[in-house]
Amino acid sequence: MEKKYVVITGANSGIGRAAAQKFAAEGYHVIMACRNMEKGRAVQSEIISRSPQAKVDLMELNVSSFDSIRAFCSAYQAGYPRLDVLIHNAAYLNHGEKEYLLSADGIELSFATNTFGPFLMTRLLEQHLVKSQDPRILHACTTNIKHFFDPKREIDFDNLRGEYRDSRPYSVYKMYGDSKMALLLLTIKMAEDYERRGVPIKVNALQINRVKLSDETIQKMSPRWRLMARAQNWTNPLPSGMAETYFNICTSEEWREVTGRLINHKRELVQPASNEKGLAQIGNIFGAKTYPAYATDVRNLERMWSLGVELTGNEIE
Ligand SMILES: NC(=O)c1ccc[n+]([C@@H]2O[C@H](COP(=O)([O-])OP(=O)(O)OC[C@H]3O[C@@H](n4cnc5c(N)ncnc54)[C@H](OP(=O)(O)O)[C@@H]3O)[C@@H](O)[C@H]2O)c1
Repeated sequence: MEKKYVVITGANSGIGRAAAQKFAAEGYHVIMACRNMEKGRAVQSEIISRSPQAKVDLMELNVSSFDSIRAFCSAYQAGYPRLDVLIHNAAYLNHGEKEYLLSADGIELSFATNTFGPFLMTRLLEQHLVKSQDPRILHACTTNIKHFFDPKREIDFDNLRGEYRDSRPYSVYKMYGDSKMALLLLTIKMAEDYERRGVPIKVNALQINRVKLSDETIQKMSPRWRLMARAQNWTNPLPSGMAETYFNICTSEEWREVTGRLINHKRELVQPASNEKGLAQIGNIFGAKTYPAYATDVRNLERMWSLGVELTGNEIE
């Protein structure tokens, strides 16, 4: 089999780390894209010690910084012949954070890390992805997007660049959920855009429900959140199960032609909800089979797409 290349962002922790281990064990050439090289190196060594034949490289990437993304993509293009699988796994959610934070590019940090950074990276790597026989992209989404079953919930399009930073209440959870909804909107639009342009890349999003958090992630939380996270961790499944799902979606024949879709943790297609009222809403909220119709509204799709293009640059094609 020809060597296949996979880039995994945030591969030094949690699901990303387990996914790097899985792809390496399956013979993929893994590129761990991490912002903390010290932590990354330790995980890289551990994966290689478990799978001595594995090819595992470590490259620096801060996915909230456009400069860092550009440097990463230039180095990747210079060092590797193509890209087969791109997994946007890294995310920002600092439990208990009270402050609206801006990225180096002046974008709210959740959106910079979870939405626009991945979008820029995908756009910059497109020419390398199309060199693959079977290019696939996976976005790590979340059940948190179910909050959009609330008809009043909207992405604060007007407050993603610090416009109301000091005057509007800020919730890191709302921004996290909004940024992941935005990622789903971009998944749907990106697939449409590829199809329209005859680009063979397939792009999907995975609705992750709950996974055991790493000690490192818990350490970053305030004491109250730490306690809650440790309690939840008792029953949460290990990241390795979700890493298997990453691998399945990105490599199996089953998903080869699927694009622009949300897939749940049971590896089923999630459908846009056709009814968001009454009893149907209970099924929407507690089930895993539907996502909010907000994500299929053309106005939301177009608005997020044009904002993504505006922020990441019109010149990339
Ligand atoms: N765990 C869950 O229950 C759950 C539920 C729903 C969705 N998800 C999604 O699943 C994905 C993985 O979650 P996880 O629980 O495995 O997370 P995690 O263990 O906290 O790992 C997150 C990774 O992202 C990296 N990261 C954060 N900001 C970054 C940046 N600016 N540049 C580069 N890397 C950055 C972190 O690097 P550092 O180590 O340097 O911080 C870390 O490697 C995320 O997209 C998350 O939203 C998880």
